Amino acid sequence: MPSIEIKPGIYWIGVNDHTTDLFEGLWPITQEGVSYNSYLLLDEKKVIIDLAKSLKVDEYLGRLEELTDIATIDYIVLNHLEPDHTGILKILFRMAEKAIIFCSPQAKEMVSAFYNIHDRIQVVKDGEELSLGEKKIRFYLTPMVHWPETMMTYEVNTQILFSCDAFGGYGALQGAIFDDECSDFEFYKRESLRYYANIVAKFSPMVLRAIDKLSSLEVSIIAPSHGLIWRQRPSLIVDLYRTWANSVQNGGEKRVTVVYGSMYGNTEAMMDALAQGVASSGISVEIFDVRRNHCSYILPALLMSKGVVVGAPTYENALFPYMVNLLDLALRKELKHKKVLYFGSFGWSGGAKREFEKMAHQLDWEIVQSFEFRGAGTEEDFQKIIALGREFGESVKGL
Ligand code: FEO
Repeated sequence: MPSIEIKPGIYWIGVNDHTTDLFEGLWPITQEGVSYNSYLLLDEKKVIIDLAKSLKVDEYLGRLEELTDIATIDYIVLNHLEPDHTGILKILFRMAEKAIIFCSPQAKEMVSAFYNIHDRIQVVKDGEELSLGEKKIRFYLTPMVHWPETMMTYEVNTQILFSCDAFGGYGALQGAIFDDECSDFEFYKRESLRYYANIVAKFSPMVLRAIDKLSSLEVSIIAPSHGLIWRQRPSLIVDLYRTWANSVQNGGEKRVTVVYGSMYGNTEAMMDALAQGVASSGISVEIFDVRRNHCSYILPALLMSKGVVVGAPTYENALFPYMVNLLDLALRKELKHKKVLYFGSFGWSGGAKREFEKMAHQLDWEIVQSFEFRGAGTEEDFQKIIALGREFGESVKGL
């Protein structure tokens, strides 16, 4: 993909990744891909803002060389040290032999730790400005969006905010890099939410703090380090991020996510009856089988739903392992403040309910009903779960 001029002298020079299967080694992106957006500013001083993963290195350097002599680059701004944005640093730093790295105080040690680079590093203060000639950039420290060293960079004349992870999302660029040229906005919206739930959710208070901190800044373009560049509606992605951060804080919207697993179909059959009950209350319901859906795709629904139904059988006197994994990730992402209904089948002594209750307590989830049944369940059990589902749907609607 060739470089693209965003504004005179400001270029997208990123890497479009269609080959990584697991982002952070955890989250599937085989189908969706991701982009590592990197930017070049040419003025009296030449600056690169954020780099890319160590992938397609020749392509990245070739694109850069078409625009400038790499040896003449003056500054490299590292908004964030996670290697998806810095993997190319080591080789670039050797080629850009006079370039000075600009980063936050916390990032300095990380540059050494990750890349064994100890010199030509300039630490910046919050609000500090750097003149490039006609252009001028300003740094805003935004810790924990996504790591403690994270900051954003703002070009004053064009009002472009280079926001790094914030306001980014999964989804390789599909020819268009701008929101107004993109033909499938729903794809990027969905993938931005999945990225938020997977990567950023835990840090939602800091996201809200960063949005608040920058609220008085005039921003004409948001140029994140993943996904689309928002030049037509920059406020849209900020509003989405605010909504998602608030959902983490307050439990989400009045809708129900059903997550279930089943060993031989008994809990699954009960889930169908339960879903019938929930749906009859008129509330929106979304269903995920934890055996077949990677947690990456379930977490966004959990994040957005005030109501959660967990259906999982007992496995070796404890909770079905796939469900344990999902709940553990929900805990790590701090997806708290839910109303929840549990049900599941057991063969002899049970145990899933007990483990679920322990995990729900850690999650601050309020259990409004728990229902264990033996084996395949009786006709009465099916009637009971339909009624419980309806009752639960009504109670979430009434929140
Ligand atoms: Fe896109 Fe926190 O790295």
